[in-house]
Amino acid sequence: MTAETEVAPIVSLHGVWKSFDGRPVLQGLDLDVAPGQSLVVMGPSGCGKSVMLKHIVGLLRPDKGEVRFKGSRVDDLSERRFTPIRRRIGFLFQGAALFDSMTVRQNVAFPLLETGQAGPDLEERVRRTLDRVGLADSLDQMPSELSGGMRKRVGLARAIVLEPEVVLYDEPTTGLDPIRANVINDLIVRLQRELNITSVVVTHDLDSAFQVADRMVLLHEGRVRLDGTPDEMRHSEDPAVRAFLEGRELEIPDREHEPSNPASMTP
Ligand SMILES: Nc1ncnc2c1ncn2[C@@H]1O[C@H](COP(=O)(O)OP(=O)(O)OP(=O)(O)O)[C@@H](O)[C@H]1O
Ligand SMILES: [Mg+2]
Repeated sequence: MTAETEVAPIVSLHGVWKSFDGRPVLQGLDLDVAPGQSLVVMGPSGCGKSVMLKHIVGLLRPDKGEVRFKGSRVDDLSERRFTPIRRRIGFLFQGAALFDSMTVRQNVAFPLLETGQAGPDLEERVRRTLDRVGLADSLDQMPSELSGGMRKRVGLARAIVLEPEVVLYDEPTTGLDPIRANVINDLIVRLQRELNITSVVVTHDLDSAFQVADRMVLLHEGRVRLDGTPDEMRHSEDPAVRAFLEGRELEIPDREHEPSNPASMTP
C-alpha cells in the first residue's frame, strides 16, 4: 500500500487548527484514514496525538478546519447529532479509563445500556466481546483486581462492544511489559482482520507501532511530518523522523507517574 489513500477515506481531518490558551497544538493537520487500514500515529509527548483523536470523536472541536466521517462533515454537528456517529467509533482511552466502581461486566455493558440496547441478548453480547479479548472468566471482577494488561483489554472490550467501524487506540501498550504489550498488539491486528475494523493507533511504543501498522504517520509541530509505510518510516532520512526513531525526542514527562509494575496501574 502506498501512503496515498486510493479509496474514499473513512475518517479525515483537513486543515485542522487547535490552540489551548493561545498555544497552537494542531497547526493545519491533514490526515486521511482509509477503510480497513491500520494507521499508527506517532510523535513526541505533548505534540497533540490525543487531541487529534478527540477531534475524530467530537470530544474537541477544531478552531479551524474540517473533520469528516465517511465523507460527511461532523465537526460542526451539535452534540445530539454527533452521538450516533460517535457510536460507530470505538475509543480506547489513554490509561483505559474504566469505571472503578463497576465490575468488568458492567463496564462492558455500559455502552449497550447507554444506547438503549439492553435487550435479552445483553449478557451474551458482553460475554462474546470479553471472549474476543480473552477475558470471559473475569466478568465479575472489579477493575482494581486486574493487571494493567487486563484493564486495557477490558477498555478494548468496552470500545468494541457496539461493533464500531473504526477504533481509536490511545497508547494501548503504555505501561505494559513486552509480553502483555504483545497480547494487545495481536488483538489490534486480529480485530482489524476479523472484524474489518479501521484502526488508528496512537503510540510511543516503536515495537508496537511496527507490529500493527500498515501505514505510519509522524506528527511534528502540529502537522504530519512523515506519512508512509513502516519501511518508509524506518528508512527515512528526515532528521525529525530519525530523532524520533532514535529516541532523541522521546521526552515523556508523564511517564514518571506510571508505575513500572503494570499490576498497579490506574487510569
Ligand atoms: N483540554 C485541554 N485544555 C488545555 N490544554 C490541553 C487540553 N488537551 C490537551 N491540551 C494540551 O495540548 C497539548 C497536546 O496534548 P496531547 O494530550 O494531545 O498530547 P499527546 O501527543 O497525546 O502527548 P502524550 O504522548 O504525552 O499523551 C499539551 O500541551 C496539552 O497540555
Ligand atoms: Mg496522549
